[in-house]
Amino acid sequence: MSLSLLLVFGYAASVQMATLVTSTARMTSIDYTKVTIKEKELYTPPLDEVACVLSNGLTTNFKFVEVSVADSPDLTEPPYYLKSPGLTGDAKLVEIGGPPYLVPQVKRDKIYDLAKLLEHLNRDPAFLAGAGAGPWPYLGVNCEGIVNLSVRNGTVDQGTRIVSVHPVGAPKGSSGYLQQQLPNDETRTALLGNYLLTEGKPGKVIKVVAKNRTGKSNFITSIRETLKTHYGDKVVGLGGAFVLRAGRGYFHVMPDFSRAPLCSDAAVDSWLHYFELDAPLTVVGTLVTGDLGLDLRVQHFHGFSGGGGGAGAGGHYHYDTTPEDVHYEGYFTVASSLIRVDPPVETHTFGRD
Ligand SMILES: *[C@@H]1O[C@H](CO)[C@@H](O)[C@H](O)[C@H]1NC(C)=O
Ligand SMILES: *[C@@H]1O[C@H](CO)[C@@H](O)[C@H](O)[C@H]1NC(C)=O
Ligand SMILES: *[C@@H]1O[C@H](CO)[C@@H](O)[C@H](O)[C@H]1NC(C)=O
Ligand SMILES: [Zn+2]
Repeated sequence: MSLSLLLVFGYAASVQMATLVTSTARMTSIDYTKVTIKEKELYTPPLDEVACVLSNGLTTNFKFVEVSVADSPDLTEPPYYLKSPGLTGDAKLVEIGGPPYLVPQVKRDKIYDLAKLLEHLNRDPAFLAGAGAGPWPYLGVNCEGIVNLSVRNGTVDQGTRIVSVHPVGAPKGSSGYLQQQLPNDETRTALLGNYLLTEGKPGKVIKVVAKNRTGKSNFITSIRETLKTHYGDKVVGLGGAFVLRAGRGYFHVMPDFSRAPLCSDAAVDSWLHYFELDAPLTVVGTLVTGDLGLDLRVQHFHGFSGGGGGAGAGGHYHYDTTPEDVHYEGYFTVASSLIRVDPPVETHTFGRD
């Protein structure tokens, strides 16, 4: 992207400009041969052991806990609605970019084409699912991405949803949200993302059911902290999907990029738009129990509601607001390594909640 185009973008991402960028999609995304890509092994305990550890540990936060090693149900069916039936086959975690590309000030050149990444990593068949920033050039504004993409024999099957603040520019407190599904020819994301990469095959995974939250930690934090307590310095990574079957969740949706720099968690917090959403919610993402020296976001999940129609809500999962009433059901796979793509050279620790 030329400097002048970047400057124009600095002023306004009008709909016309967004259309222009969409038509030059292939030119504007990051060239994976020119950025840092590192891969580090994760510790992979046997599934039975992980199930045991979680089934004991989660009871500090939930009254009812049931963890088992199970075949996932067909995850293409409701309420999961994924683009592949399972979560197994050469499972790895992928973290792209990071919060330093979003705050203090957005780096608009950080556009990542996920189909191209899969090609670069030689992954086909591939299923990619998780939480990232949506492709703002597609929409013309910043948005959340609930990524759900499969590639088989070179054919892209895009199920990714994006959620933006609606109407664009509405002030916090009186805004709503708009959920849309991306077409097959739009496989870009932006800025940052945390994804599970597998072959999308059916197979054994860890099934976690938790109800009636009695502790302070949310579902994912509780899983991550339990594993960290048990495995210590051996870093374990999980990815997968869960459904909040009952209760309400607290989610954020990023509004368009802030003109003023956002320099702290408090500033990011007052910029984000928060929504309390009703179950059922389908949520996808990843967690790791350590940093591996790779500047990682240790947990990141995005979800949506509204079933197959594309008319519901969605955003970044924080926690639930109805502890006694919650019912979580999740399927997670243990990843063998983590692929770090284009990590920020200059980093910081905020904007990662
Ligand atoms: C890819 O195509 C080959 C040949 O047509 C077929 O045998 C194979 O099952 C396909 N793979 C997938 C993942 O669809
Ligand atoms: C995945 O894609 C399917 C089909 O496009 C869609 O119905 C479903 O809601 C998507 N799931 C997620 C978790 O985004
Ligand atoms: C949740 O657990 C609390 C504490 O044990 C209990 O008093 C309450 O009845 C439970 N609520 C539900 C909905 O099961
Ligand atoms: Zn997020």
